[in-house]
Amino acid sequence: MQLVQTCAEVRAWLATERRAERRVGFVPTLGALHAGHLSLVGVCRQAADRVVLSVFVNPTQFGPGEDFSRYPRDLERDLRLAEDAGVDVVFAPTVEEMYPFGRAEVTVDPGPLATVFEGRLRPTHFRGVATVVTKLLALVAPDVAVFGSKDAQQVVVVRQVVRDLLLPVQLLVGPTVRESDGLAFSSRNVYLSIQERVAATVLHRALVQAGDGIRFGVRDPQVVESRLRAELATEPLGTVDYAAMVDAERLEPLLTIEGRVLLLVAVRFGATRLLDNLCLRVHGSDVQEELP
Ligand code: PAF
Repeated sequence: MQLVQTCAEVRAWLATERRAERRVGFVPTLGALHAGHLSLVGVCRQAADRVVLSVFVNPTQFGPGEDFSRYPRDLERDLRLAEDAGVDVVFAPTVEEMYPFGRAEVTVDPGPLATVFEGRLRPTHFRGVATVVTKLLALVAPDVAVFGSKDAQQVVVVRQVVRDLLLPVQLLVGPTVRESDGLAFSSRNVYLSIQERVAATVLHRALVQAGDGIRFGVRDPQVVESRLRAELATEPLGTVDYAAMVDAERLEPLLTIEGRVLLLVAVRFGATRLLDNLCLRVHGSDVQEELP
């Protein structure tokens, strides 16, 4: 496995791969790799001959007062995990390499899907994500790129960016990987105290219960949302930022539960925000779990 840190090195490596007509897959990350990222590498390896993984804590997607400076960074460990997972190249640029002119003057407007939920609470977040993802896709020019379904709104926003900007890449979505008690793997889980870590299982529990309600025939979105909130409220250490059920493509409210639907939750435990979701395809009485 190779570590490259400049755009020129990425381009040189890619030139060889392209001459050999190999399919290149890409997994963008903020680093602090965990089982969730490694499963995305697995998805990517199935779809491509070579896997590039980026490790870049992108400053433009963190708002003022957010955890940019304390975000966990351990490149040595990330390299070991990436190599074991079968990554061919890790691209770990500096901020100066990705933003050579300082703060980017040209950015990608992620559109209306980025103004709700996470986007309402973190107004600059998705512009930062859309911009860095577009830059990385332009640089790596992968055949496929893999994103994790834990950040469901990010998947929806990035999909729209790729569609609207006609970016020549196939997006794949990898399933959320969970600890044995249901908590979704996240690099931010390390911020939780022991009590908060126990309390955080409420996100998955609330989603599972809401999903069961739908399987048992509940079709009123307001009933599902209020049950979701009621379960989240059983955990006094958590403060709910949102708990909602929306149409999975447009993130808009539903009149009834039919088609592809997405349950989204964001809960704060102290200074740590955790996200989780459940995506379902509902056709009459048939309810299947899907990737967002
Ligand atoms: O999901 C993430 O890890 C980041 O938002 C991404 C896609 C790597 C962009 O910085």
